[in-house]
Amino acid sequence: MKSINILVIGAGNMGLTFAEGMSRSSILKGNKINIYDVSKQRIEEIKQMGIFNVCTSLELCLPLADIVFLAVKPYNIEILFENMKPFTNPNQIFVSIMAGVKIKTIQESLDVHKVIRSMPNLPAKIGEGMTSFTISKTVSKSEAFLVNELMETTGITVEVANENMIDASTGISGSGPAYVFYFMQAIVEKSMNLGFTEAEAKQMTIQTFNGAVKLYEKHKETPNEWIEMVASKGGTTRAAIDILDKGHVKESIIQAVTGAFERAVELGNVNAK
Ligand SMILES: NC(=O)c1ccc[n+]([C@@H]2O[C@H](COP(=O)([O-])OP(=O)(O)OC[C@H]3O[C@@H](n4cnc5c(N)ncnc54)[C@H](OP(=O)(O)O)[C@@H]3O)[C@@H](O)[C@H]2O)c1
Repeated sequence: MKSINILVIGAGNMGLTFAEGMSRSSILKGNKINIYDVSKQRIEEIKQMGIFNVCTSLELCLPLADIVFLAVKPYNIEILFENMKPFTNPNQIFVSIMAGVKIKTIQESLDVHKVIRSMPNLPAKIGEGMTSFTISKTVSKSEAFLVNELMETTGITVEVANENMIDASTGISGSGPAYVFYFMQAIVEKSMNLGFTEAEAKQMTIQTFNGAVKLYEKHKETPNEWIEMVASKGGTTRAAIDILDKGHVKESIIQAVTGAFERAVELGNVNAK
């Protein structure tokens, strides 16, 4: 099998995270990933890293690419797609990690067929990401398998049935780390208010989350069943849970997930051709 030529367009937070993860993949057989970005400062930083080929023109790099990762902000796609279109070909696979950009928009704007739309999340930075993806009908099983292996260098992946489920996973795992940080921030702030140092507050918060996550991961009980186990009547945890219930915190979290999901759908319609 010939070595694969990968081009990542947009080397920001996510594009670079994926490029770094994929560069460790044995699939590349030591080949460097190509990176294209409009930011001169970014390009200089990437040159300094020394692990990527810096691509200075789409005209030179795009026609040679087998797999193209699209990682710019959705509002940048109009100009980008216009610049890319003359240099694409129907054999190439386009993998989008952009929120709310539909497969059909990518196919029509670039005049291509093979598109994989994915939704990663921030912990991909440390190989602990959760990425959902869905493929267009024109992507073969072996092509999807290959792209999946590349994306797995940043964490866990799951193939979902359609783009609606990508928008749904945007609300859950895509935006999800922020919900967890929101909760963590409140606990850190209160810990410090009670007299703990910042370092102590951080450690207590992290270990509390870690412990709860691992219990949920390793046992069959649902989160509610774990709550019932620790929140005995008249006790301290029950007092806390009663306050959360009274504040409708669970309903607010559900509304937050719904809000992110609906925004992803809305962005898809805005960005549609
Ligand atoms: N960050 C997350 O947690 C997360 C999670 C899931 C999905 N995503 C998706 O990932 C995508 C990238 O997000 P990000 O946070 O990585 O963005 P980012 O840090 O802003 O990176 C985007 C990069 O693309 C460059 N760029 C803009 N227009 C370009 C063009 N025409 N050609 C080449 N490069 C161009 C930008 O340069 P300038 O700065 O000069 O514009 C920037 O360096 C977004 O579509 C987002 O929806 C992000």
